[in-house]
Amino acid sequence: MLELPKTFVLGAATAAYQVEGSSKVDGKGRVLWDEFLEKQGRFSPDPASDFYNRYEEDIKLLAEMGFKAFRLSIHWSRIFPKGYEAEPNEAGLAFYEKVFKTLKSYNIEPVVTLSHYETPYGLTERYNGWVDRAVVGHFEHYAKTVFNRYKGLVKYWMTFNEINIINISPFTGGGIISDKLENPTEASYQALHHQLIASSLATKALREIDADAQIGCMLARMKHYPYTCNPEDVLKAMQEDQMNLLYTDVHALGEYPNYYKQFLKENDFSLNIEDGDLETLKAYTVDYISFSYYMSLLSANSEEGEVTEGNLMNSLKNPYLEASDWGWQIDPIGLRIVLNEFWDRYHKPLFIVENGLGAKDVVDEDGSIHDTYRIDYLQKHIQEMKKAVQDGVDLIGYLAWGPIDLVSMSTSEMSKRYGFIYVDKDDDGNGTGNRSKKDSFEWYKEVISTNGAQL
Ligand code: BG6
Repeated sequence: MLELPKTFVLGAATAAYQVEGSSKVDGKGRVLWDEFLEKQGRFSPDPASDFYNRYEEDIKLLAEMGFKAFRLSIHWSRIFPKGYEAEPNEAGLAFYEKVFKTLKSYNIEPVVTLSHYETPYGLTERYNGWVDRAVVGHFEHYAKTVFNRYKGLVKYWMTFNEINIINISPFTGGGIISDKLENPTEASYQALHHQLIASSLATKALREIDADAQIGCMLARMKHYPYTCNPEDVLKAMQEDQMNLLYTDVHALGEYPNYYKQFLKENDFSLNIEDGDLETLKAYTVDYISFSYYMSLLSANSEEGEVTEGNLMNSLKNPYLEASDWGWQIDPIGLRIVLNEFWDRYHKPLFIVENGLGAKDVVDEDGSIHDTYRIDYLQKHIQEMKKAVQDGVDLIGYLAWGPIDLVSMSTSEMSKRYGFIYVDKDDDGNGTGNRSKKDSFEWYKEVISTNGAQL
């Protein structure tokens, strides 16, 4: 029988923007998403799942499931409303302190993301976001502020959620308005350099402020398989995989890899790297590597093949895989593959901090929700994860995405649900907001209580 270590951490993850609501209270500032979605008349961050007001009730439910850890992000603009103030907003700091203390009272370890697509809008207005080096200093100040305040309360920190999004959607990952830039792609790599430096400086700061805590990076892992065994496709898949691993390469190994230097050269991109930057990257590598995993992708050297949607990126369709209602290809074995690859490449502890199935749930007349499809997805992924642990991978834990239904990042829909806990809200924000348990609630509770033995 496959066993998980006794110290293994099982739980789930959220992000402030998608779950909190209350986007205009207690001095909170705006983020670029607020502006964008409001202009489009799409689902705004209010009320989202109203975690801001219901966190006690929610954490109690997570505790009932036996959660060992709960991942959440701090909404940077609750702490520094515009991002560049000298003094923090006490109401924002107090909110997260209450949340962390409530989690601790149930022996749930908070796992905290500093920035989950939540660059304050003030930094967009003043600097056009992360393209400007000045944002590094503001981020460092923010990181130090929260490390000092929550010292001893948080064991696991991570810097940027899915840091690779900065080069896929600079708007989302860096508060950057690309239309204002002459060469937006080159600028996105400059912004990446700034985030990598900021990540290293945050790592340095945490080691000085709270040496017992750990800090990791976070990547949207997009495993590329070759479309065929044609070496052209294999090469293409290898190159696309390298560009996905660029971010963890720098975070874990402390330097820009040669394939990336070549990529910059071929594209005639020249980055502004200040004196001391490369030394900073080298000196402050991460303690662990965390990542999201939802699906795998296919790479082909030709344009042929049917395309399907995916997380952050579309892909060619893999005939061996099924897909979710949103076209994301379901590949549990891929999780075992990426875990082994990460471990072989870095020999650093790994942490799965997002995995799950977005689906439309149906509430029966008696209120029950039979989400067998979700149980099936999670069960298969956890099974493959256990095999990877048996393969020898050092894995801290597994956090499913969105334990309480929350607003989808890609579609802004509430009806694309991931939770074990149903939230009575529709895509227009109507509904009571009341919580109820889906079938997956009892299932995951059993998984946790048996430390993954009972799937
Ligand atoms: C990850 C993000 O990429 O995918 C989350 O970190 C997001 O913020 C999750 O919610 C699921 O994607 P979506 O688009 O279905 O919400």
